[in-house]
Amino acid sequence: MAVLRSVVRGVGAYLPKRVMTNDDLAKIVDTTDEWIVERSGIRSRHIAADGELTSDLGIAAARQALVRAGIDPVEIDLVVCATATPDKTFPATAVRIQAALGVTKGAAFDVQAVCSGFVYAMTVADNFLKTGQFKRAIVVGAETFSRILDWTDRGTCVLFGDGAGAVVLEAQPHHGTREDRGIIATRIRSDGRYEDMLYVDGGPGSTKTVGHLRMNGREVFRHAVQKISGVIEETLVETGYAADEIDLYVPHQANARILDGIAKKLGVDPKKIMMTLEKHGNTSAASIPLALNQAFEEHRLKEGSLVLMEAMGGGFTWGAVLVRW
Ligand code: UT7
Repeated sequence: MAVLRSVVRGVGAYLPKRVMTNDDLAKIVDTTDEWIVERSGIRSRHIAADGELTSDLGIAAARQALVRAGIDPVEIDLVVCATATPDKTFPATAVRIQAALGVTKGAAFDVQAVCSGFVYAMTVADNFLKTGQFKRAIVVGAETFSRILDWTDRGTCVLFGDGAGAVVLEAQPHHGTREDRGIIATRIRSDGRYEDMLYVDGGPGSTKTVGHLRMNGREVFRHAVQKISGVIEETLVETGYAADEIDLYVPHQANARILDGIAKKLGVDPKKIMMTLEKHGNTSAASIPLALNQAFEEHRLKEGSLVLMEAMGGGFTWGAVLVRW
């Protein structure tokens, strides 16, 4: 039976030029390179320049993805941007990206699920493409978390950074078999009872300010290992794949110890897990497409490879996307 599948045609990424090392951070808060590396695996992060906006990062990533896909912007009819750090309260950052790329058809909107944003945005785009409502989508994850960090809080400011990544998806007819290319399964979850574990203490409708990120790191860590392992297992059971049949795991990049914990829990060879946080820290919704981009540049994404993306973030929100590349 012919079905529509959302096939990844191109991937791109962008990191701002300015690099901030752990030693740079040790000059502004009571921390050390040793502590940050041992507890998180992060060595440096990129920080957007003054006047460089989330949309600017997203536009650069999307342009690279379009060039690699060999697709003209006029052929795109859906732009979804996952971000928790939009340029403005409104309009959506996605419409600014849409305009800058020269996309004039269809729709553009933001998806807000913090660090799970890219998984949510892929799920939304996939559902529009599968039903035939749109044909080609750009899915962007872009963040400037440096602007919502409390630079006096060593428990959080050492972990996050700025960046963007993007993929171009195209609806293609397939046979509905296990060999089909494209998105095979998506699973998204949330549980608002955990809101105060990871949140921003401001907003236009409450304090009329932007606010700063607050996190109970230890609790978030504990839930991350459980919830991510759970959603991966559910995705594997649903699709009938074993954990070791996945060619590459491309997780949200929050903490190396979380990724090690998941690998151990699922019995996955750590070599199959993309780990890119060392150079850019936790970039929230941008971290999966940044890791996908690195995997692409290292020739680790071959046509037919099974790729599993997963994330957990504020909300709590969490989820997974299984793709045959
Ligand atoms: O993207 C999704 C959301 N985020 C995450 O997934 C992050 C999840 N959490 C984590 O990654 C980890 O919990 C952290 C990296 C945030 C912290 O690691 P931890 O091993 O859980 O450390 P901790 O919070 O239990 O703190 C241990 C100690 C504390 O001192 P005391 O109370 O034991 O004396 C902290 O005050 O380390 C101290 N500490 C620091 N020391 C040096 C906290 N931050 C720092 C720091 N430098 N930057």
